[in-house]
Amino acid sequence: MGKFRITPSGPLKGKIKIQGSKNAALPIMAAAALHDGFTIIKNCPRIKDVDNMALLLTDLGCRVFWQNQMLVIDAKDINKTVLNENISSKFRASILLLGAMVGRCNNVTVYTPGGCKIGARPIDLHIKAMTELGVLVDVKDNVLKAACDKLVAGNIIFSQKSVGATQNAILAAVFAKGKTVIKNASKEPEVKALIDALVIMGADIDITHFEDNIIEINGVSQLYDSVVEVVPDRIVLGTYMGAVLLCGGTVLFENCDIKLTRGYLDILVGMGLKVSEDENGGLLATADTRIQAIRLIKTGPYPEFPTDLQSVIMGLLSVAQGKSTLVEKVFENRLSMAKVLNDMGADIIVNNEYAYIRGVEKLRAVTAKTTDLRMAAALIIICLIATDESIIEDEYIFRGYEDIVGDLNKLGAKVLYDEAEAT
Ligand code: EPZ
Repeated sequence: MGKFRITPSGPLKGKIKIQGSKNAALPIMAAAALHDGFTIIKNCPRIKDVDNMALLLTDLGCRVFWQNQMLVIDAKDINKTVLNENISSKFRASILLLGAMVGRCNNVTVYTPGGCKIGARPIDLHIKAMTELGVLVDVKDNVLKAACDKLVAGNIIFSQKSVGATQNAILAAVFAKGKTVIKNASKEPEVKALIDALVIMGADIDITHFEDNIIEINGVSQLYDSVVEVVPDRIVLGTYMGAVLLCGGTVLFENCDIKLTRGYLDILVGMGLKVSEDENGGLLATADTRIQAIRLIKTGPYPEFPTDLQSVIMGLLSVAQGKSTLVEKVFENRLSMAKVLNDMGADIIVNNEYAYIRGVEKLRAVTAKTTDLRMAAALIIICLIATDESIIEDEYIFRGYEDIVGDLNKLGAKVLYDEAEAT
């Protein structure tokens, strides 16, 4: 558990690079386990979830090491098919080793990363995907055993969209003999990032109908040593663009292009952010007026508004001019930050998945504890405009944000971090 001390900040100014995407790096690391050789991952973010995925892979027999900002994974000597329970229970993405290890070894024991504060997070869709590929799956308590003699291509039709289940289906189908068709697949950029990496590694994946949520995988017999690159993190970018809207100022996001903002740019612009593509590359974001309310925002599967930015938007709307309704349609319990904002003087009424927000002029400083990493990031940037210094106690944020303190302070903010006790 660590403590952030946030001092009210004036306008943000300067330029920063956005880290590699957590939710693209993790499935790509799982994909490395498919291949009995080297996979070099460029622009991999140095975050706790990546460290824990690296520990899981090492425990399975891989060699994993950093070479500058590149993560090198040598998965030649995988000699185990039972995941380390303690490590895998620390983060949801450990479930992605289900598809990768079924693909590599036709056999794996994983621990279902149970629910968390934002929702129950079941894995029924992951199990369905494996079953459609001829895998026998047995779940007892939190232990999931999956095995098959031979992977067979299948038709997977998801009853609802799931990023992780789509990724697991793709990973398990890479070596499945024949053509696997996934329908109602998720098409988040992080699914596309996994596909792009696998194709570089030698997989045969057809995304002709990707916009219609259809992915087709023709089984291959092997993959090859490859170098793949992680895209910038669109959620970290959206978080910092939110900070510009809150504090005002002008920031250049050097390694980002407009495509990264699909699904949320229109909302931020509607609130008053000005965004342009800089002639030297990168995205320039400017704000100099009070945030404007947006009447209705609903989160949903890509390209709808991303649930991972919902906490940031709630903070922005809490000080906007006007009333807004925010609807969280993806996770059943992800509006809990409203309580903290109301302690700061916000005016938010939560009813099930609806948050009714009437913007106020000012927010008081707060001392609060976080319950998930996206809420942690949202609270830190919202405290930049509180009337006094705030204290945020948190144990999640470094799972997903490489250096939020350094990034914000580079732009003129005053954020201190004190690792009160080692986690
Ligand atoms: C991924 O989680 C992301 N995590 C989440 O980001 C993100 O919020 C989420 O996708 C939605 O975009 C990673 O990529 C590591 P889902 P995932 O399966 O795959 C239900 C962050 O902060 N569902 O798309 O677990 C589920 O309960 C994290 O970076 C089932 O019912 O999300 C949810 O309501 C938070 N059965 C909905 O689907 C299943 O088998 C979407 O979940 C699987 C999911």
